[in-house]
Amino acid sequence: MQKSILITGGAGFIGSHLVRLFVKKYPDYKIINLDALTYAGNLENLKDIENEHNYQFIKGDITDPATVGRIFANHNIKGVIHLAAESHVDRSIANPLEFINTNIIGTVNLLNAARMQWKDDPKNHLFYHISTDEVYGSLGNEGLFTEQTPYDPRSPYSASKAASDHLVRAYYHTYNLPVVISNCSNNYGPNQFPEKLLPLAINNIFNNREIPIYGKGENVRDWLYVEDHAAAIDLIFHKGTIGETYNIGGLNEWKNIDLIKLLCSIADKNLNRKEGASEKLITFVKDRAGHDKRYAIDASKLINELGWEPSVTFEEGLQITVEWYIKNYDWIKRVISGEYEEYYNKQYGI
Ligand code: NAD
Ligand code: DAU
Repeated sequence: MQKSILITGGAGFIGSHLVRLFVKKYPDYKIINLDALTYAGNLENLKDIENEHNYQFIKGDITDPATVGRIFANHNIKGVIHLAAESHVDRSIANPLEFINTNIIGTVNLLNAARMQWKDDPKNHLFYHISTDEVYGSLGNEGLFTEQTPYDPRSPYSASKAASDHLVRAYYHTYNLPVVISNCSNNYGPNQFPEKLLPLAINNIFNNREIPIYGKGENVRDWLYVEDHAAAIDLIFHKGTIGETYNIGGLNEWKNIDLIKLLCSIADKNLNRKEGASEKLITFVKDRAGHDKRYAIDASKLINELGWEPSVTFEEGLQITVEWYIKNYDWIKRVISGEYEEYYNKQYGI
């Protein structure tokens, strides 16, 4: 029987890049994409592979045990790569319960189904949980998050992800469920929903709309091109050690304000605007509540043990990203046609 891999959240930003990679690279696997198609999920992201023989989409909610149970009963699921989540910090501040439901209850449903289905042969299976560096909390000016950094989540989003990480480890220790976890830094690239900093800024630049920067723009994030995250997930899925955690990061720290200035200058060149035109749109706005100061990842375990390295420099990745959004402006227009404007007005008070 064909080896089936269940990828949850495959219609989202990172999930769609991962599904594409697996469908193309592993013709012998059957890739099942389970996604509820929330505001952040979009099948258009997978148009180019939707008819491949080894791909199947199932619309369903991970918080529903019956849906999840049926998928495990009907398919020979050998591995799970679990990305489905509510993923935006600002939305978690406005509405924490949705994050608790999807990120914690949804993860437990998947863990329960895997545990029941795999109990007689745990060795030949793997539950891979995709998590975030935000579980480690906030750094000062010095230091990096390692796999040993104690958890200290500070937003409802990161607390819900931390809880799900703990539960995944609990199933490993208590039920011998074969698990692996990775915690990644900020991703950027094509197909990211324009509520996150970079695509929001790109969209606003296109529309000559103010670019909102929280506080003084001094918070620091470590940016990684989304396809390099997908490549790391591939490596960890196939070569990672069961029970282990791997940090994934870009070795690429930027203050938000410097990042947006660089973006503006790349955008000016690509849009044939006068140098400095987009930068004028930068507007400092009220800070995010509990805004984590700095994230930075020590990825040496992944680099030294599994041989991973990023494939593009940040300048290359940003250039590819800006070009993609220019070429796919209709994609942005379609994804923001729903509740986006209402969200935007509530979030930014405009
Ligand atoms: P995203 O918001 O773009 O996509 C999430 C996907 O999950 C969407 O397709 C959505 O429809 C689906 N989904 C949401 N609730 C669901 C439910 N109840 N049942 C089934 N599907 C549901 O998220 P992303 O940025 O691609 O992040 C993917 C994963 O990676 C998340 O677990 C996130 O915590 C983690 N992560 C993200 C980043 C980042 O920078 N974006 C960094 C590190 C880790
Ligand atoms: O670190 C990994 C995490 O990165 C992921 O787990 C999350 O899913 C992902 O959303 C991201 O979280 P951040 O909160 O770091 O990303 P965001 O794009 O929302 O914000 C990046 C930085 O930019 C942060 O310091 C807040 C700031 N910001 C964000 C927005 C949306 C602004 O200054 N203005 C904005 O309008």
